[in-house]
Amino acid sequence: MNDLFLRACRGETTERLPVWIMRQAGRYLPEYRAVRQKADFLTLCKTPELAAEVTLQPVDILGVDAAILFADILLPLEAMGAELVFAAGDGPTFPTPVRTREQAAALPALTRADAEERLGYVYDAMRLVRKELAGRVPLLGFGGTPWTLAAYLVEGGGSKSFSHLLGWSYEDPEGLGLLLDRVADTSLAYLEGQVAAGAQALQLFDTWGGLLDLERWRSLALPPLRKVVKGLLASTPRVPLIYYINGGSHLLPGLAELEVDVLSVDWRQPLSEVRRVVEADGPGGRKNWVLQGNLDPAALLAPIPEIERRVERMLQEGATERGWGHIANLGHGILPTVPVDHARAFVRAVQERSQR
Ligand code: CP3
Repeated sequence: MNDLFLRACRGETTERLPVWIMRQAGRYLPEYRAVRQKADFLTLCKTPELAAEVTLQPVDILGVDAAILFADILLPLEAMGAELVFAAGDGPTFPTPVRTREQAAALPALTRADAEERLGYVYDAMRLVRKELAGRVPLLGFGGTPWTLAAYLVEGGGSKSFSHLLGWSYEDPEGLGLLLDRVADTSLAYLEGQVAAGAQALQLFDTWGGLLDLERWRSLALPPLRKVVKGLLASTPRVPLIYYINGGSHLLPGLAELEVDVLSVDWRQPLSEVRRVVEADGPGGRKNWVLQGNLDPAALLAPIPEIERRVERMLQEGATERGWGHIANLGHGILPTVPVDHARAFVRAVQERSQR
């Protein structure tokens, strides 16, 4: 089995860096768009054969070192009973947002058995992908963090200001805390199910964690996140955990205390600076962090020689004395307008230029 990616997650020194791309199964690929012609987004997620097919596309087309299951972070909220709509051209919406303590109390957390029953299509897709991969690369499962999931559920979709979420957090933090706790319990059950179905590592997406300052992140977002992380660390088999944050440079001193294996960051700070902060003496006090990221997704729109130069620089910034401690990726999801040969050039540049 090719376990380069898993060895890098565990902090081992590897023969070269592994590379994969957030949103690697997506609209920039003509092969993905062809499958999407046949099925809307949710149908695609809920049809294991199709979800498996698009999961494998970037492995075949780009030669990435990990597969990430084709699904969405919002699916477990739908499984909790919230109606979820992906309208063509728009992002996701929840037509009935959850904005009160009473509404939160009416959304029971999912148990492992509920997750099997209502999200079994995700698990079926994972088993199919594992079979079809046959050890070519590891399979990554994922979920959203409780804070980021709640952000969508409370706003009713994406938002510029997140005024409902943030307003609730100031008016009634315990009420919002109840929702976050239910989402945390659900996420833990759902993610444990993914591991049972064959996920070999898990990534937690905290797309909106950066909305909070460090003090409020610690008091609001961290407790439910820690519940998920602690639960996963205690469950067997224990798989590597990756935490991704977008726009969270100001939170790094708090993130250093998270007991995850890999910290995945955006492009707004060089990896060397991220490492300096998370490895500084402090409450976390941990050295030898494995970092994931962090090329600017828009850099894949540059001419290929410029992409190669920027990859080179990212590799230098991510490198450590003891070896690499770095998994190459973008700092956020790949943009739908990226030419496929540019994505391939990114992957190849990492694979060739990080050889030891
Ligand atoms: O990375 C992968 O290839 C695996 C699949 C994956 C998707 N969404 C498929 C998807 C993953 C890991 C996600 C995570 C996800 N979903 C996040 C966290 C990562 C991030 O981008 O910050 C978030 C916030 C969501 C919620 C979501 N899903 C939004 C806001 C949108 C609309 C925006 C957009 O890019 O269109 C989606 C839709 C979505 N999820 C698409 C894909 C491939 C596009 C849908 C389509 O084909 O029309």
